[in-house]
Amino acid sequence: MNYIKAFAPATVANVACGFDIFGFAVDEPGDIVEVRRRDEPGIVIMDITGDEGRLPRDASRNAVTVVMQHLLKKLDRLDVGCEVTLHKNMPLGSGMGSSAASAVAGVFAINELLGQPFTRHQLLPFAIEGERIACGSAHADNVGPSLLGGFVVIRSYQPLDVFTVPVPDSLHCTLVHPDIEVNTKDARYILRNEVSLKNTISQMGNVAGLITGLMKEDFDLISRSLVDVIIEPVRAILIPEFNEVKQAALDNDALGCSISGAGPSMFALSKSRLEAARIGKAMQETFELAGISSKLHVSGINKEGPKLLEKR
Ligand code: HSE
Repeated sequence: MNYIKAFAPATVANVACGFDIFGFAVDEPGDIVEVRRRDEPGIVIMDITGDEGRLPRDASRNAVTVVMQHLLKKLDRLDVGCEVTLHKNMPLGSGMGSSAASAVAGVFAINELLGQPFTRHQLLPFAIEGERIACGSAHADNVGPSLLGGFVVIRSYQPLDVFTVPVPDSLHCTLVHPDIEVNTKDARYILRNEVSLKNTISQMGNVAGLITGLMKEDFDLISRSLVDVIIEPVRAILIPEFNEVKQAALDNDALGCSISGAGPSMFALSKSRLEAARIGKAMQETFELAGISSKLHVSGINKEGPKLLEKR
């Protein structure tokens, strides 16, 4: 194989109550990586589109190429050379798992180029290293679902224990990205390190409720459990009109609405694509009233994860 073109999807991390432990993939947007073999060893970045020149072109500092480097090292194949082009289809600092989608597309592509020496699950530790480079924390709730598809739980980080949970087929996601940027590092920095016992109890109840609701296809239970008493109250201040936009989603039959990842994107879950579109319209109109433009993505839960677009 000489050339691979691969896509990896955006993701909604945390899903209200599951900070750093829950995430799911959506159908779009997503990033695309092209990898082409070259004769000389080493990975070089040929081009990055869609990032307004903001991502590092130095392969030792870019999440996409760093994860590939980790994979080659593990295989003891530092003799391999390749040229990488990254097409970013979502803004940086969007809360849609932008860096994770790039890292997953990259690690998936090089694994395909080398004839799949690793399973998807085995690619996860490499992809996590991309998050460490991109935002200073090795969380897996974006790379996990982008790589494995579906709704993902990270039960433990050390050792890594990651699995997917079945979700109702009709479950849909509304993802609204207001035209502002939130840096994940900053959004993590403002969080408190201590959590009260009272809030821990509430959060654990909601975590258990959400998983049970998804597995039993119990939409009322899903709805009651999409509550975050720990992270959302702190981070909401980073998103202008957060309360109003959330209320607009709930008024339009959303099962729940919260911050997508570290924000500023907000997500809502609902029982159909039609509802998801209506909720999105209401959320966008509420941002618009405050003079904030936004972009809307409506999607089912993407069970597929990364996709091979071309190989030759
Ligand atoms: N769980 C991470 C956070 C996701 O909320 O900081 C970042 O996209």
